[in-house]
Amino acid sequence: MAAITDNGQTQHWVEEAWRRTLAKTEWTNKRIGASFPHASPDGRYVLEEPYWWTAGFWPGMLWLLHEGGGDEAFRATAEACEEKLDAVLDGYDRLDHDLGFMWLLTSVANYKLNGSEVSRRRAFKAANYLAGRFNLQGRYIRAWNPWREGEDNSGYAIIDCAMNVNLLYWASRESGDPRYKHVAEAHMGTVLKHFIRPDGSVRHIVRFDPETGEVAEYIGGQGYGPESAWSRGTAWAVYGLALAYRHTGREEYANAAKQVAHFFLSQLPEDCVPHWDFRAPEETKHLRDSSAGACAACGLLLLGTLLPEAERDSYRIAGERILESLYVNYGSFDDPAEEGLILRGTSHYPERKNIDVPLIYGDYFFVEGLARLRGAKMIPWE
Ligand code: GLY
Repeated sequence: MAAITDNGQTQHWVEEAWRRTLAKTEWTNKRIGASFPHASPDGRYVLEEPYWWTAGFWPGMLWLLHEGGGDEAFRATAEACEEKLDAVLDGYDRLDHDLGFMWLLTSVANYKLNGSEVSRRRAFKAANYLAGRFNLQGRYIRAWNPWREGEDNSGYAIIDCAMNVNLLYWASRESGDPRYKHVAEAHMGTVLKHFIRPDGSVRHIVRFDPETGEVAEYIGGQGYGPESAWSRGTAWAVYGLALAYRHTGREEYANAAKQVAHFFLSQLPEDCVPHWDFRAPEETKHLRDSSAGACAACGLLLLGTLLPEAERDSYRIAGERILESLYVNYGSFDDPAEEGLILRGTSHYPERKNIDVPLIYGDYFFVEGLARLRGAKMIPWE
């Protein structure tokens, strides 16, 4: 069933979900305001420091909701979050490749919606730092900084960066300078070559020798193991590749996005919401990652607008099915005490962190999916 009916109306469940999301978010905004929620283990969002990679999702969600008729207070909170992030941007030391997640959903969103010059400058600063993490020999953007003293992770690239490079595509389009796009393209070429397996499953971490650029090893990361298929990583690839196709029109991205999407869809259980890792052992198979479902749904909806007419429908319908199931089967809307919108996310199973809980990025992508279905004009990654 399509979310947009034949007479051009948005389907009933989408409007109902939007209204209930607005109401819940008004309530949460009153409690947490300009802060940086991550997971909601006991009904209330736990707040992180602003340098954590998740800092953009709450303000990003507020921009989308504000655009869709939400409270004026949402805008004030989103702007205040963006200002708080200046200490991270200017402090430099804590910046890693998640500059994309953080400043696309804050400064780029604000600039696109309101033409804020300060926001534009912040976004360029972030894009320059991100481009500066490029390793020429390995043609990858370095993911993280050392997590502990003495650690050398200068050879690490991770699939999540397929979302961060959208900041570079934006910077090239906005400035007319193709250098940013060249870095994004080189990194995405590495994604195609080293992260996507022939069966459409996706690796989380590839470690390169940072001097020679040769592949040194594959690492399981947030997935079960080096050869497993972490569902959120698969979702980052579906959406990241679809966006790369949107930015460049290059067929190889469309083909890879479809290949990974087919793998993702073939692994879904009956209710269309993925397990945390598609190759997890049976005893952990009860754990879902609703955030992976929400992110992949946005990528599928995008494919459903970009691909040739004859191919579109199946991707759009798959995206809608996932979102509808998240709303009906995983939504917290009947529980006024729960701040998270979508239950049953898994943040980091190998480290046993934030398992089976609402996650702010699950909420964000659920809202973005609804916004797409309602015809939103501003999508930060595009
Ligand atoms: N980008 C980190 C994660 O997906 O958990």
